Amino acid sequence: MPLFSGRPVFVLGTGMHVPEKILTNQELEKMVETTNEWIIERTGIHTRHIAAPGELTSDLAFAAGVQAMKTAGVTVDDLDMVLVATNSPDTVFPGVAAKVQGMLGANCSGAADIQSGCTGCVYALAMGSAGIAAGLWDNVLVIGAEVLSSLIDWQDRNTCVLFGDGAGAVVLSSNEAGNLARILASDLRSDGTKHDLICFPGGLVQNPASEKTLEDNLHKVQMKGNEVFKFVNQALPGFLHESCERAGIKASEIDWWIFHQANLRIIDSVLRRLGVEPARAIVNLEKYGNTSAASVFLALHEAVAVGRLLPGQKILITSFGAGMTYGDIILEMQGEGHVQG
Ligand code: UT7
Repeated sequence: MPLFSGRPVFVLGTGMHVPEKILTNQELEKMVETTNEWIIERTGIHTRHIAAPGELTSDLAFAAGVQAMKTAGVTVDDLDMVLVATNSPDTVFPGVAAKVQGMLGANCSGAADIQSGCTGCVYALAMGSAGIAAGLWDNVLVIGAEVLSSLIDWQDRNTCVLFGDGAGAVVLSSNEAGNLARILASDLRSDGTKHDLICFPGGLVQNPASEKTLEDNLHKVQMKGNEVFKFVNQALPGFLHESCERAGIKASEIDWWIFHQANLRIIDSVLRRLGVEPARAIVNLEKYGNTSAASVFLALHEAVAVGRLLPGQKILITSFGAGMTYGDIILEMQGEGHVQG
């Protein structure tokens, strides 16, 4: 994994926000042919949060961003860039980041969405860090936010039991004072030959909206779940091993692994292939399901908020998703952050 050069990059604070409504496995049993036992055994998911009608990705992103800025101790005037990783933007354009920047009143900040499947979160963290390391920006608000519940076919048990809505955020900065962690290295990859494994095919250039695209259900998330499962199990262990090697860090020296919270079985099997105890993983997918580009931010924020990550510990964050993209980023904890009890 290439180490960052240039100016050091720090994480100053984290935040998250999920919608109020909780959808349980038992409720899903009444909606599609599934069982609580199947969902728990195959995924580890117990509940997920679902946005209220009219509650948009930008609303969740804004709330998570405000909390991250508060814990970071930065103001809107400090922000140089807002990056939002999302696969469920309010609209294709304008992007969510521009709306959030406007809601914040961050008048000296740029804004851009990063759309790279669930890995968008890691891409956005790496791009924000690269901009700071290069001297382009001093403070970047990086958000992952999704309202995938609007894009899911609630009759398709292959997808509807998996996903949840939510947003998480991180403030990256060149400012060392009071920092929570330092960004060390990152590696980003893609295998675009597998672009058909997860897609949302309807409504744009390839399949402009029509009665036929509605009939063919093209305006909903389509996923070949089992093929994704196999791809990740095959690609990720070697990639993570190589990444650590290139960063000069052994997998055994990573204190905490924050995986994309897609499936507990994926997390366990990838870690076992790396020879790492599954107990080294930070997991909260049982509460939130797969929140796509937000998931690693929710896991990071909750771990920070309860003081689970200690100074000196190394954290590897990794994700995978539509594209197929995958990537990782390594941080080293410096302070204890904002323990919130
Ligand atoms: O965030 C983007 C990245 N996406 C992912 O990481 C998803 C990766 N994939 C997975 O997590 C898993 O493949 C799933 C959880 C989606 C599915 O688990 P699986 O063990 O791969 O199951 P499967 O697709 O091989 O299906 C096994 C059986 C099938 O029935 P038959 O053909 O054996 O009779 C499915 O029809 O399970 C059936 N099935 C269900 N049964 C009850 C599929 N979905 C459900 C369901 N409830 N919700």
